[in-house]
Amino acid sequence: LLIPVAVVLASYLMGSLSFAVIVSRLMGLNDPRSYGSKNPGATNVLRSGSKKAAILTLLLDAVKGWLPVALVLSFGPEHGLGVSVAALAGLAAFLGHLYPVFFGFVGGKGVATAVGVLVGVNGVLALATVLTFGIVVYFSRYVSLASMVAAVFAPVFYVFGDGVSWDANATEVFCLAVMALLLVWRHRENINRLFAGTESKLGKKKE
Ligand code: G3P
Repeated sequence: LLIPVAVVLASYLMGSLSFAVIVSRLMGLNDPRSYGSKNPGATNVLRSGSKKAAILTLLLDAVKGWLPVALVLSFGPEHGLGVSVAALAGLAAFLGHLYPVFFGFVGGKGVATAVGVLVGVNGVLALATVLTFGIVVYFSRYVSLASMVAAVFAPVFYVFGDGVSWDANATEVFCLAVMALLLVWRHRENINRLFAGTESKLGKKKE
């Protein structure tokens, strides 16, 4: 039990690296927690005007979700760790992003990190989910709406792919479902803004 617990803990710590804040600090930009939606995430970093910082944030926040899953899947089996521990490691990284120990437990909404976890779990699943995101964001221009729709579809796609593209694992279903629920929960202010018609659209430089 010691190894899986250590793996999950290490994944949580990795997820706690809030790259929106770290990248902004390193690039001499304002703290993303001080402007726009105040969210430490790639979408809000984009509102600083720096595409480079936003892309870096997106990539690094995704990598920290992907890496624990990929490492457990590659090196876990020789230590008796399987897909379930890989999924729990991904969930732990996601939780770290939402509630980072290094940043007073005030983190982001988990979109990029969830994508990273999905890439680790299964490339086809990730592709289907990112395509869903792409379709919704293309037509609505709302990153928040697209993120929520895609997150909810991820566990659905995963369950439907059982026996076709992969053998669904109960822990993985659980982790994907918890990530979707928490991701929507973290978007509750966005949901209010969407209903009020005040949510910011992609490509428009306002709140
Ligand atoms: O990256 C999270 C995205 O879905 C919404 O971000 O800053 O518009 O609340 P934001």
